[in-house]
Amino acid sequence: MDNLGETADGAQQNERDAGTRAAPWWRGAVVYQVYLRSFADGDGDGVGDIAGLRARLPYLRDLGADAIWLNPWYPSPMVDGGYDVSDYRDIAPVFGTLAAADALIGEAHEQGLRVLIDLVPNHTSDRHPWFQAALAAGPGSPERERYWFRRGRGEAGELPPNNWESAFGGPAWTRVTEPDGRPGEWYLHLYAPEQPDLNWGNGEVRAEFESILRFWFDRGIDGIRIDVAHGLDKDPALPDLVSGPGGALVPAGEEHPYRDRPGVLEIYRSWRKVADAYPGDRVFVAEAWVDGPQRVARYVGPGCLHTAFNFPFLTCPWSPRGFREVIGESLAALHAVGAPATWVLSNHDCVRHVSRYGRARARMDGPHFHPESPFDLQLGTRRARAAALLMLALPGGAYLYQGEELGLWEVEDLPEEVLQDPRWEWSGHTDRGRDGCRVPLPWSGSAPPFGFGPDGSRPWLPQPPEWRDYTAEAQARDPGSMLELYRAALRMRRSHPALGDGTLRWLGSPADVLVFARDPGFCCAVNFSAGPVPLPAHEQVLLASGPLDGDRLPGDTAAWLRI
Ligand code: NOJ
Repeated sequence: MDNLGETADGAQQNERDAGTRAAPWWRGAVVYQVYLRSFADGDGDGVGDIAGLRARLPYLRDLGADAIWLNPWYPSPMVDGGYDVSDYRDIAPVFGTLAAADALIGEAHEQGLRVLIDLVPNHTSDRHPWFQAALAAGPGSPERERYWFRRGRGEAGELPPNNWESAFGGPAWTRVTEPDGRPGEWYLHLYAPEQPDLNWGNGEVRAEFESILRFWFDRGIDGIRIDVAHGLDKDPALPDLVSGPGGALVPAGEEHPYRDRPGVLEIYRSWRKVADAYPGDRVFVAEAWVDGPQRVARYVGPGCLHTAFNFPFLTCPWSPRGFREVIGESLAALHAVGAPATWVLSNHDCVRHVSRYGRARARMDGPHFHPESPFDLQLGTRRARAAALLMLALPGGAYLYQGEELGLWEVEDLPEEVLQDPRWEWSGHTDRGRDGCRVPLPWSGSAPPFGFGPDGSRPWLPQPPEWRDYTAEAQARDPGSMLELYRAALRMRRSHPALGDGTLRWLGSPADVLVFARDPGFCCAVNFSAGPVPLPAHEQVLLASGPLDGDRLPGDTAAWLRI
């Protein structure tokens, strides 16, 4: 690890001293995702905040994380959990103040934790001053050029300009009322209507976001997660999609009119220059939902971004063949461009992996989970424990989603009246959305709010009473708990020379078992079958996700071995 809070002079001095630079910290970092509104509530209003996070930094340090990534914390009407930003240079009052954010960054650095924030460049809130100005300025104005305003189709412009759909359901276009009171143009929103898409062909948009990057880098931020990184560039002809297999809308030609277009890479190459002008190692991580590791690798080529989330890994079902393929393809594609792999099992948009793996049958379609059999908590927990050891042994960095270290599951039975995800409304109440993975964390005690906020406070989503046995406090006393497994794994990962960035070698194994070695002297074995298999040859068992059966590795269990 290089120094936190290094000065420009210090960084140059280090480079001179070392002759060559040590590998940057982010190539093997474990980044803990803090979904701020659900992490810890300092002021008792039911919503997590910066004060709550500051008080819990020692927990994250002791867990063994290298960095934290915070979901958007900017002023926002909170239509989409803060991914509708109305001011990119301030903090939402519900989370704290800019001074509190500065204090958090400083305190995290003192605890040895780097800080990544979330940038939302694809769209703003409809309350953002730019969008308000665009509404007021009317058709043909430079203010409207920053977004995608178009005349509608049909005789009186009464139909949307094309057939694109919002990711949350419904058309991707909303018609505005012009300043003179008449129905007027339509604007594009690939998410909720309150999230108008920015036009990245516009020079002012580009300049503004480079300035926002500098604003946060100047405050000491170590990295940035880029929301909807695959979506910024759009075909200005805005062509209709056509009906594809199963009725899904697909592009008529080879290029998609708004997903994963080559133009996005040019934007990120200029962002990279902004980051590289700062001392120390600042990192970008792309939220790019694209088709497979080869496409992911395009975002992290030389001169482009540093890292990208590995969603092919997250969406892989619990299967040895599936994991072997996605791990192999990810390492090959990313190492070919000199980038480290990253691994992730859960985040704030996806069903928690205890609930995904805890099913005999299930499938994923992008981020959408389709259970096909009932949930078995024991099965899900056993597999999640094995998955943690698998992920943390793989070469590269890893992202942990808050609560996975506690073994939390998706809360699938939240009452309808508390659901807040816009997907619930926009799907016509057919998709319950993502609130089930965003339920506030249980820290201590035996009844809600489980230490999430002061006694008597009411978390913004109700916590299941069963979480009394899953609090951080309860697990800290239990050597067999998920929390203690994560702590032990992260401790070992820090000290073992084979772990973190690097490469792996697959070793021969039965079909339902994955075994790989990392040099020097480390081996990870994961048994995906239901029955035990012999452990590979080893000198010592370093860590196991569950009790071993003599010299055998039980089903759905992983072990770290010294070889
Ligand atoms: C991806 C974010 O992770 C998700 O929570 C959000 O709804 C969309 N992008 C839109 O910003």
